Amino acid sequence: MNSDVSTAVVVLAAGRGSRMRSERPKVLQRLAGRPLLSHVLDTAYALDPSSIHVVYGYGGDEVKKEIKSAQLNWVEQHEQLGTGHAVACALPFISDSQRVLVLCGDVPLVTPSTLLPLLQDPSNSVSLLTAQLQNPSGYGRIIRDCQNVWIEGIVEEKDASDGQKSIREVNTGILAAPAAALKMWLSNLSSENAQGEYYLTDIVSMAANSGYEVRGHCVPAATEVAGVNDFEQLAEAEAIWQGRQRSELMRSGMALPAPERVIIRGTVEFGMDCVIDADVLLEGDVVLGNGVKIGVGSVVRNSIIGDDTTIEPYSVIIDSEIGRRCQVGPFAHLRPATVLDDKARVGNFVETKAAQLGEGSKANHLSYLGDAEVGTRVNIGAGTITCNYDGANKHKTIIGNDAFIGSGTELVAPVNVGSSATIGAGTTLTRDAPQNCLTVGRSRQKSISGWQRPGSKNDENSAEDGLISERPSNRSSE
Ligand code: UD1
Ligand code: MG
Repeated sequence: MNSDVSTAVVVLAAGRGSRMRSERPKVLQRLAGRPLLSHVLDTAYALDPSSIHVVYGYGGDEVKKEIKSAQLNWVEQHEQLGTGHAVACALPFISDSQRVLVLCGDVPLVTPSTLLPLLQDPSNSVSLLTAQLQNPSGYGRIIRDCQNVWIEGIVEEKDASDGQKSIREVNTGILAAPAAALKMWLSNLSSENAQGEYYLTDIVSMAANSGYEVRGHCVPAATEVAGVNDFEQLAEAEAIWQGRQRSELMRSGMALPAPERVIIRGTVEFGMDCVIDADVLLEGDVVLGNGVKIGVGSVVRNSIIGDDTTIEPYSVIIDSEIGRRCQVGPFAHLRPATVLDDKARVGNFVETKAAQLGEGSKANHLSYLGDAEVGTRVNIGAGTITCNYDGANKHKTIIGNDAFIGSGTELVAPVNVGSSATIGAGTTLTRDAPQNCLTVGRSRQKSISGWQRPGSKNDENSAEDGLISERPSNRSSE
């Protein structure tokens, strides 16, 4: 950065984004699960400017509510009269000696390193970030002098002649300029153009005409400056962003056998020898140890997974912490505040919520464990359910070490199972089960000899329909 001059960043975010046809302000549309504006602000923070001003307008309260940051100066643009007017709204908060960097809330992929040259230019020059596009339609075109060296102006597509429309160098909407001169130029803007707006781009010809150097920095990869104006462009930006994340992951040692089918919406920290298979979605902050494998179709959000743990296919893991050498899934659902200690196993069609499973404990099939504290080496049989909710409050189930919970058990919370206790299959446990004992609570089995299946007057039809009458057996012979 030019060391003599401090930088003020102005982010333009007031437009409605009418091409989106959405109630939501454009800058709050999601890219990789976060608002477009958050991505632009990340870039701004990375440049470490002395101030950041966000010009907001349409849906302003919503924007301010979602983008919480103490470091921002919010500037309201009451009427969206154009990009030049938007920048002018922020200038009263910027001192004359500063250099102003204008970023667009709808250009989310630009990187700090691409912007640096604009801040390293002489402090009294105007610097534009430009791009060479195969298809420049919709963008403002860069007009250079006859030697093709200096920039003389920018002409918007709607105001361009056919000759100007054939120019492939376009304005990305991002520029840097000295604040004092910018204030003067913006006060002289006119809205006499095809869109009746005050164009920021008009300052370029003003600068050139009054002898200022206007430098163009052509972005190396045009994908960085893709603007988002509709959902097709949003999807294109998403694809570019995802591509970047996957490359970064693979280059730092993550195996992605089907990279284009992995989606990252947040941050991923990981050790060595991790594999993420196809159709996996990682959201929020995900931390993986060494040797973690995540199977096809799984979703992991804001969770920590320890060394050598395997997540089998189609598992969903939310706000959970999983230890080392655990096995989860296939088809497991770990809801918030699940904690699995080392070597725990949670198998297919098992749902957990605010449940802790101690080291080596297993719930391998078809169970619900909610608000449960399970000790070490506990076996939870298939179909076990913690009845944790009485319609008003949630209650806890506590199971001691080495307990064995038979299949089909209902644990009506609050309830405790002592260590090394055995619960007989099919028990509905409504009182505490003491340690070391067998506890069984189910109706006694009986067999009725001489019983006959009910028939009907029209036996043929009922057999065809598969119907069995519920009439008492003593009338079944009629
Ligand atoms: C703008 C540029 C165009 C450039 C293109 C790159 C102008 C006049 N045109 O056109 O040269 O090729 O970006 O993407 O600058 N905004 C406000 N207040 C307003 C109007 C706009 O805050 O009154 C914000 C929008 O929310 C958006 C940004 O400014 O974030 C750009 O506005 P947009 O309407 O998208 O301009 P483009 O037509 O794309
Ligand atoms: Mg735009």
